[in-house]
Amino acid sequence: MSNPSEAGLIHMFQGIRFTTKSSPELLKSLDTFDAREDDVLLVSYPKSGTHWLAGVITKICSTQFIITSPIEFGDVSKLEELNKVSSKRIIPTHLDYNMLPPNFKKNKCKIIYISRNPKDTAVSMYHYYRNNPNLPTIDTWTAFFDLFLKGDVVCGSWFDHFLSWEEHANEKNVLFLFYEDMKKDLPKIVKEISLFLGLNTSDNDIQHISTMSSFSEMKNNTEKENSNPSHTVCALTSNRELIFRKGTVGDWKNHFTPKQNQRFEEIFNEKMKFSKM
Ligand code: A3P
Repeated sequence: MSNPSEAGLIHMFQGIRFTTKSSPELLKSLDTFDAREDDVLLVSYPKSGTHWLAGVITKICSTQFIITSPIEFGDVSKLEELNKVSSKRIIPTHLDYNMLPPNFKKNKCKIIYISRNPKDTAVSMYHYYRNNPNLPTIDTWTAFFDLFLKGDVVCGSWFDHFLSWEEHANEKNVLFLFYEDMKKDLPKIVKEISLFLGLNTSDNDIQHISTMSSFSEMKNNTEKENSNPSHTVCALTSNRELIFRKGTVGDWKNHFTPKQNQRFEEIFNEKMKFSKM
């Protein structure tokens, strides 16, 4: 059940929390979505680097594809709106694998999944909850930490989301990426994405795309990009001012107490015992 601070902002669908930016009618109708063979899905749990990856992909292939807003963002007219897009589509989503419209699976559409250390994801999500008016009020990090571990946050449990997608990580049409690898060597990942999409991006362009996708470049462009409503890639906000916070690896160390870290590790080891991560 939702708690009182969530009233009016959050609703439950199939046991997962969604904001009211994703209408129940739209979520119910997702199974009827007409996926096309050349659709590309950009999948993430919130705060894993969705905007970063979307920025990179847009720069790699803006002449061949257009990036739409997330499939679960909006009301029931959304599917019709996506049907009207005549170009090849890159469709972002925070849905877990089980909720994905079946036609994407049937058509073996290309899927790029980005994941991030769940400890950093939790910290990033905590700040997002505090700043995003579409999300319920959170008083303390301690309170949020408990909600995150229980999966009582938007898009449900990080563990369930990750595991639902990891099961498909080795399928030919799936490219599984990690935020930390993008931090370590962005040009390498840009090349990987380009090859996966069947594009031939030159080394010069790869370098240029990587430079233009740095945290500072993207943060500096927030205002310009915000004025373009088609640049909504996260179903939880259209406001990019809320996205570019720190952009680092390991910020969890500034938030987790040793006791929280131990509890997180125990739950991680239990839930992820069959994972290759
Ligand atoms: P932090 O809150 O840790 O700073 P999403 O796009 O899925 O909402 O993820 C947001 C997170 O990705 C934020 O993390 C944000 O700062 C980080 N991010 C966005 N663009 C980035 C970039 N170009 N380089 C590194 N991190 C980036």
